Amino acid sequence: MKEHFDHPDVVVCPGGPLLLRGEHVIEDAEGRQHRTSRPVSAVCRCGKSADQPWCDGTHKVLPDKLKP
Ligand code: FES
Repeated sequence: MKEHFDHPDVVVCPGGPLLLRGEHVIEDAEGRQHRTSRPVSAVCRCGKSADQPWCDGTHKVLPDKLKP
């Protein structure tokens, strides 16, 4: 039986970002580090955000085949 947690630390949004709860440091593809600054941060998984590594909502207008 699967365990269920009410407040997971990491949530994968289908077709969208990865949600991180709490404080984290994200290292992007160029090796730059970014510290989270919100209670919940959205990390882009589609690669199309203009505000990498964060999700800016661009994934919502992508065709299904380009969504993560
Ligand atoms: S996942 Fe939202 S812009 Fe990439």
